[in-house]
Amino acid sequence: MKEFVQYMPTKVVFGRNTENETGRLVKERGASRVLIVYGGGSAVKSGLLSRVEESLREEGIVYEELSGVRPNPRLSLAREGVKKALAFGAELILAVGGGSAIDTAKAAALGAANPGTDIWEFWMGRAQTEKALPVGAVLTIPAAGSEMSDSAVLTDEETKKKAGYNSDIVRPGFAVLNPELTRTLPKYQLACGIVDILMHTLERYFTPVKGNELTDELAEGLMRTVIRNGKKAYENQKDYDAMSELMWCGSLSHNGLTGLGRPKDFACHKLGHELSGRFDEVHGATLSAVWGSWAKYVHRLDLDRFARFGKQVWNIESEDKEEAALASIEQTESFFRSLHMPVCLGDLSMGVQTDEVLRSLAEAATKGDTVRLGCFKKLTAQDAYEIYQAANHR
Ligand code: NZQ
Ligand code: ZN
Repeated sequence: MKEFVQYMPTKVVFGRNTENETGRLVKERGASRVLIVYGGGSAVKSGLLSRVEESLREEGIVYEELSGVRPNPRLSLAREGVKKALAFGAELILAVGGGSAIDTAKAAALGAANPGTDIWEFWMGRAQTEKALPVGAVLTIPAAGSEMSDSAVLTDEETKKKAGYNSDIVRPGFAVLNPELTRTLPKYQLACGIVDILMHTLERYFTPVKGNELTDELAEGLMRTVIRNGKKAYENQKDYDAMSELMWCGSLSHNGLTGLGRPKDFACHKLGHELSGRFDEVHGATLSAVWGSWAKYVHRLDLDRFARFGKQVWNIESEDKEEAALASIEQTESFFRSLHMPVCLGDLSMGVQTDEVLRSLAEAATKGDTVRLGCFKKLTAQDAYEIYQAANHR
C-alpha cells in the first residue's frame, strides 16, 4: 500500500426532502450571502430551485443567482460567476444541479477568493492558491461525483480545451442528496451518469500498485452495486432504493475512497475530455466510447488484474486468464450497450473521424507527446492514437 492522505470534509445530508435543509446547512457554515449556481432550467421547472430559495429565506440568508450552466461548463460563464460573487459579496457558492453546476460553483469560489488572478491560470497550473470560498451542493444527478471531489472541470470555448483543476480547497463543505430529485432526469443523462460512476472506480482499480486488499474490496463492491442498481434505476427512475444506492455510489466513487493507497489512472478520462472539448460530447458517453479499446490495448500488461475484475465483478470463472480478461471487457461493454451508451467513436455524435483528426486528438491529449496519460500503462501520443483508432468505427 502506498502512503496516502484521506481528506473527506463534505457533510452529506441524504434522503427525501433534504433540500429543505439547505438554509440551515449554509447558516451552519457561517454564511449569510450566497451565490446560487444552476444550469439550463431543470431545477426551475421541477420547483427545486424555489424550495431551496425558500429554505435560504427561512434562515435569513440573502442570495444572488448565476444561471445557464451547460454540460461541459464554459470558462466564460465561470468568469461571470466570479464577477457576480465579488459584486454581491458572496460568502458561499451554492450549486443546484450536477457536475457542471458544481464545477462552475467551485470555479467562482476560487476566483472570488483570489480576485487578482484570472481563474484559468489555476486550471493551466500557472498560478497556485490555498484560498477558496466555501462551496455547497444540492445534487440532482448521480454522475460526476463533484459533490465530494477535489476536482472541477471547465472548457475554454475559444481554444476548445477541456481541463481539470484539482485541490482539496474546492471540496464542497456539504452535499444534499435526495434521490427523488433525479426523477426528472432524461434517460440518456442517467445512463451517462451510471457510466461515469463506474468509470471513476474502474480508473482507480486498474493501476500498477498491488496489495490494497481493503481498497480492492471496496472498489469491487462499489462496482457490483453500481451495475446492479444502475440497471434497476435505468428501467424505473422511480425506484427509490435503486436510485439511493446509485447516488451514494456516485459520491463515493470519486471522493478518493476506492483508490486509497494507489495512484489513479484516468487515461480514459483524458482521452474523453479531448472529445468533449473538441466536439462537445457528453462526458459519460466519451468514457464508454473509449474504455473497451483502452482495455483491449492494455489488458496483457496485467492479465491477473483483468481476470480478478471478471471474477469479482462479473462472476466470470475461467482458468484461462486471457479468456477471462477478454470476457470481462466484453461484459463491461455489453453493460454499456444495455444502457444505450456508445462503445465506439461512431456511436457518438462526432461520428467516425479521419486519421488526421485522430492524430491531432492524440497530440492534444498528450500535449504534443510531452505528457503521459495514466499509469496502468503510461500512454504516449502513439498509444493514444492507436486507442482512438481502435475505437474509430461504428
Ligand atoms: O442544466 P439543467 O437544465 O439542470 O440540465 C442538466 C444537464 O442538461 C440535466 N439535469 C441534471 N439534473 C437533472 C437534469 N435534468 C432533469 N432533471 C434533473 N434532476 O442533465 C444534464 C447534465 O448535467 P451535468 O451537470 O452536465 O451532468 P454531470 O453531473 O454528468 O456533470 C458532467 C460534467 O462534470 C465533469 C464532466 O467532465 C462534465 O463537464 N466532471 C466533473 C468531475 C468532478 N468535478 O469531480 C469529475 C468527472 O470525471 C467529470 O469530468
Ligand atoms: Zn468522470
